[in-house]
This record gives sequence, structure tokens and C-alpha cells, in this order.
Amino acid sequence: MNNRKGIQVVHSNRKGNETDYGSDTKKLLNYIDGEWCESSSGKFVDVLNPANGKVLGEVTQSTEEDVDRAVQAAKKAQREWRLVPAPERAEYLYAIANLLKERKEELSQILTSEMGKVIDEARGEVQEAIDMAYYMAGEGRRLFGDTVPSELRNKFAMSVRVPIGVAGLITPWNFPIAIASWKTFPALVSGNAVVWKPATETPIIAYEFAKIFEEAGLPKGLLNLVNGSGREVGNAMVEHPGIDLISFTGSNEVGSAINARAGELLKRTSLEMGGKNAVIVLEDADLDLAVDGILWGAFGTSGQRCTATSRIIVHQDVKEALENKLVERIGELSLGDGADETVKVGPVINRASLGKIHEYVKIGLAEGATLLAGGRMVTESGLVSGNFYAPTIFTDATVDMRIAQEEIFGPVVSIIPVKSLEEAIEVNNSVKFGLSSSIFTSNVNLAFQAMRDLDTGIVYINAGTTGAEIHLPFGGTKGTGNGHRDSGVAALDVYTEWKSVYVDYSGKLQRAQIDNY
Ligand code: UN1
Repeated sequence: MNNRKGIQVVHSNRKGNETDYGSDTKKLLNYIDGEWCESSSGKFVDVLNPANGKVLGEVTQSTEEDVDRAVQAAKKAQREWRLVPAPERAEYLYAIANLLKERKEELSQILTSEMGKVIDEARGEVQEAIDMAYYMAGEGRRLFGDTVPSELRNKFAMSVRVPIGVAGLITPWNFPIAIASWKTFPALVSGNAVVWKPATETPIIAYEFAKIFEEAGLPKGLLNLVNGSGREVGNAMVEHPGIDLISFTGSNEVGSAINARAGELLKRTSLEMGGKNAVIVLEDADLDLAVDGILWGAFGTSGQRCTATSRIIVHQDVKEALENKLVERIGELSLGDGADETVKVGPVINRASLGKIHEYVKIGLAEGATLLAGGRMVTESGLVSGNFYAPTIFTDATVDMRIAQEEIFGPVVSIIPVKSLEEAIEVNNSVKFGLSSSIFTSNVNLAFQAMRDLDTGIVYINAGTTGAEIHLPFGGTKGTGNGHRDSGVAALDVYTEWKSVYVDYSGKLQRAQIDNY
């Protein structure tokens, strides 16, 4: 029985080899060409609540064939969509924005149950999607190109943005609705159709998001949701000749494989990958403020942000004072189910992730770093069936240790002492990533010097490494990405081509570079 289109209540009397999930389990389907449908594979994967291991639903696992159907639908829909005036395309985004706003609380609760982040952060994430919908809707009345003087008389020159075609979007579980909004809205407003593969861990919020596009009346075929694994669905998207560009947020391993193959196929890619973000604390910093920024940056979303603070580069003169304050304050971070308003840190996404985080802690100890706090999986009663890791701080880490170089994607941060701003900047820039960095200082000259020299796509002065706003470009240098940006006007560069148009109204042949000299 369907309670809402696309989500079916699976009854407890299911027979055969199907699992019996009880009466509230959701069956999460694909949305292709305006229809909710199951993959022909017949396979489903369970969706778990990371706070308690409970099964929330099961998600259809798609095949190459499903991807092909989605691409055909998208191509067909895009042929008409590209002719719809951009301000009219934007009206759908305004309608979506309004629906997101109306459902903010409901969506936030779903997000917390499926992904684990604490409810307050979930609300922030849904707000990010709302903001992006309104912002990109506004672009429907801008999408500016240039008009420029021609070098010849009686000739007009301009550049216009044109859509690329079908955008293949691959989004992660850590910001499952915000990042989906960063990609779908600019893609659609600029006249593309979308084939979207959300992360397998977070199909419920993906369903709710797609449902809102449907309810807003977006013409069928423009947004196609195809659930499944990266291996099957992601690869099929990269390979499909009908997909013109891939926008991906996720691991470096997958991103670089996408880049290599898409490069061969001359397909545009926008890649947003890892980070190893540092907070620099200088000797003149407001230490209490720095501690606030560090705790939020390192342990918010249980450290599972590309922008998470995973290094603290501290001037040796204030190292001990900072450590004392951190150890004193870390106790405030109560762990638990993020749905509980009093909880400060939720679970990590799954068991595999929990294991990987713990492996890194063991590596840090073997490398000779000192554990100041945490360093263990939390197995106290009440939390044992969830994936909880204690907020962890290492100190006396050195720049070349693996815990100071590799992305852990969990609640682990390492303190590296330095003697000067110059050394701090060198340590900051020593990693292969370049997403976000932060510096706490009360010296304006040093702040500006850091702003110039920190080699990251995002720099914060006197704030932690997280909390990017949607109207600025989001992305990083070096191994974090490939030069493209999500968010802000810069995102439009991912989803549009430039077309230069010359109109010669002189009535005669005028040759550029020749007839004017
Ligand atoms: C990410 O982890 O990929 O500004 C994005 C921030 C978040 C976005 C993180 N709003 O830190």
C-alpha cells in the first residue's frame, strides 16, 4: 500500500525471503520521467538509523538500464526546458523553496534519523537548501552575460550563458539535502535536466526532496532520481554518452576515478572532495573564542564534514593554555541520538566508518602523538547499538604524521605546535587538500597576511573552519577539487557554456583584426 507516492508501507506479513521490517518501513523507489518506480534488479538495501541501528527503510538498487531510462527522459525533457525563459524556470524553484520552508521541521527530523547529525544542525542544513532555492531562483532573472564593444563599426558583441544538457549529480550522505540543493538548483535554473544519484545511506531525504520537485509541478523528466551504488549507478552515469557533465561531492578516491574516465570522454566534471582543515591559534588569540570555534568545527556533524577542523596549529606559547581549555570544555559534548534536543554530538554514519576512525586513532598512537581526550568507541548502554565515537583530541602531533595529513572524517583533531605565523602557514599548506582554514588572532596585519598566504578555497578569520554561506563560492584548491565551485554565482560556470554572439549590422564584410587596422 502506498501512503505517499513513492514510499510504500511494507507490511509485517511479507512472505518468502523478504525481510520482515514491521509496519513503518519505507520502500524507497526511483523517480524517473515523473514516475516512482522500482529498479528491475529487484534488489534493495536497508537504510539504518545510525543512532540505534533500527531499519528505517529499504532502497531500490538500480542498474545501468535504469540510468539509461533516466537519461532518455532527461534528454527529452531538456529539449523543451531550454526554451522556457529562465525567469519562468525560476518560478518552479520559488515554489520548491516555499515547500521546503513549510516542511523544514519535518525534513530536519528525517535528516537526523537517517544521517545522525543533531537536530539543530539538521535544521541548519535544511535552511541551507531553502536559501539555495531562493538564491538560484533569483538567478533566473540574472544569468548575466556580457555586452561588450566590438572592435568594428556597426557591429554588436555579447556573450550569453547556455545550458549544457543533462547534468549527472552524485551527492554524499553527510549533507544530503544541502549538497543536493547546491547542484540541482543551478543545474535546473540554467536550463539543464538532471539525473541524480544520492548516497545509498540517505535515500529517505532524497525521496522527500524529489517529492517536493514533483509537488511544485516541475515538468516530468527534468529531475530523475536513481538510487544505487557508485559502482553500478555512478559508473553508468559517467559512461553514458547522454550525460554531459558530472558534478560529484565525495571521496578523493572516487572523484579522481571519475575525473580520469570523464577526461577520456571529454566530459565536464565538477569535483568537491576531501579536506584536512586547520584552525591556527596565534599567541594573541582570544582563546575562549578559539575553543568555541574548534569544538564546533571538529565535533559538529561528528567531524563528518569536508570542512571539519581536523588540525589545530597552535603557537607554542599558548599551547598548554589552549589544551587545558579544550580538555575542560570537551566534557560539555554529550553524545546521543541527535533527535534529542540536548545532545551535542550524534553518531557517525555506519560501522565501517566507526572502524576507520578507530584505526586512525591507533595509527596516531603508534606514530607517537599523545591522546588528550577520547580515542574510543562509545559502548555505554543506550548507545551501544548506535555508531558513537568519543570526541578525540591528539596533541604533540607533527606535520608529517598520517593523522595530520589524511582525512579521517570523524570526531578526531590533532594539535600541532609551531613557533611563528610563517611556520603555521607552512604547516597549514603542507597537506594535499585545500578546502578551508581558519586563524584566530587579534592582530589585523597577521590576519591579512594569513588571508593572502593560506592556500585554501575558504579562509576564516576569528571563526572555525565550517559554516560556508550559500551565496559565496564553495570549494577548494589542490587535491580538494578540480577548480570548479559549488554555491554562489560561480556554480553557474559548472552548468553553462558560454556562447559569444556577434551581430554585424554594417551590411558589408568586416574582418576582425584586419579591416580595422
Ligand atoms: C561538506 O561537508 O561537503 O559550511 C559541506 C559548511 C557546511 C557544508 C559542508 N555547510 O561547513
